[in-house]
Amino acid sequence: MSDVRIGIIGGGLMGRELVGVCGRWDLLIDHPSRPRVVAVADPAPAARDWFSHVDSVTTLSDDWRTLVESDDIDVLYIAVPHDLHEEIYTAAANAGRDFLAEKPFGIDLGAAERIVTAIDASTAFVRVSSEFPFYPGAQRAYAYAASGALGDLLDVRSGFWHSSDLNRSKPINWKRRSDTCGAIGVMGDLGLHVAHLPLRLGWHPQSVYGRLDDVVQQRPGPDGTPVACDTWDNALLVCATRPQAGGRDFTMLWETRRIAPGHANTWFIDAMGMDGGVQFSTREPTLLRRFRMDGSEQVWEEIQPGNVSAWPVVSGAIFEFGFGDALLQMWASFLAERAEALGDRFGTATPTEALESHRVFDAALRSWQTQALAFP
Ligand SMILES: NC(=O)c1ccc[n+]([C@@H]2O[C@H](COP(=O)([O-])OP(=O)(O)OC[C@H]3O[C@@H](n4cnc5c(N)ncnc54)[C@H](O)[C@@H]3O)[C@@H](O)[C@H]2O)c1
Repeated sequence: MSDVRIGIIGGGLMGRELVGVCGRWDLLIDHPSRPRVVAVADPAPAARDWFSHVDSVTTLSDDWRTLVESDDIDVLYIAVPHDLHEEIYTAAANAGRDFLAEKPFGIDLGAAERIVTAIDASTAFVRVSSEFPFYPGAQRAYAYAASGALGDLLDVRSGFWHSSDLNRSKPINWKRRSDTCGAIGVMGDLGLHVAHLPLRLGWHPQSVYGRLDDVVQQRPGPDGTPVACDTWDNALLVCATRPQAGGRDFTMLWETRRIAPGHANTWFIDAMGMDGGVQFSTREPTLLRRFRMDGSEQVWEEIQPGNVSAWPVVSGAIFEFGFGDALLQMWASFLAERAEALGDRFGTATPTEALESHRVFDAALRSWQTQALAFP
């Protein structure tokens, strides 16, 4: 098992989650790598302070360049506001540093294109964070769809719904302003989560109709005075989609909602064909619904995927899988792929997939502006 020294750029919500992932690494039964967070860069003193209790961290810096230039770091995890993605990701790629990037992979399509150009010209191994497809039920849904069991595809719905913005008095933050989050708004926050699995299955949107909604247009600023909250809260994308494997175009919905009453953090995939179908939602993580035709009869089954993950763990198979487990599995996948030991297991989202998702989000924006179909 080789030691992997990790440097975190951006020690906020997601940077801290990585400390939890490393702390739980021993749950994995057999893995080629062992990650350890050794350095953190964040300009906010409070963010750096949080890491002072983490024994493995020996470097705390206010400048991300310190980490990009360090030869004592093997992998960077870059989890910063979207307006900083391009500068830091391209600098890391130009320096040949391996890194796990956060979505949306650039604040807009142009930034994503420039990031991918820098990565293509470098030796850096880069993947993009998207953890929900690592739920055991999602993995089973993926395998069933990838096997061709669905036949002629009818409809796919892929969504991520939460209600973090239902409360109108929640203060403004960088994620709710288009200059730091991006003009694509909620699609930048939640969109790659929704796009990853369909794109991996070879379901490529050919045209998009976007329905975007800016529900809450003001939020309390730092002193309580209302300030503009100018990002899309909810987005529904209706995509005419061509299967890579051939066949007729089918309808695929990508749904991203920050305001979805009744849902705290619901990621789902629902794919129906003439011969079979799958439905999985993190709202019911212990359940996978599957449909197949038996002659002229529809047969529906409920499968309990249990805690059986791509990377086996010591935890009991009957236990319930959750968000922290999905992050652990994603990191296991990312580091195994970097070590060329992924085998036929499911891989973390690629820069190409992140770029394609941006093309679709950009088309959705144009579609909404022109009230017409747009093409990615
Ligand atoms: N994969 C997921 O499930 C998931 C969930 C939430 C957020 N994200 C993504 O992670 C990224 C970060 O989001 P977050 O929720 O952790 O945000 P956050 O606001 O909690 O943390 C961002 C951190 O970046 C720091 N930062 C700002 N400027 C910096 C700079 N120049 N150099 C270094 N650090 C800097 C901030 O001080 C802050 O601590 C975003 O791309 C976001 O979309 C992913």
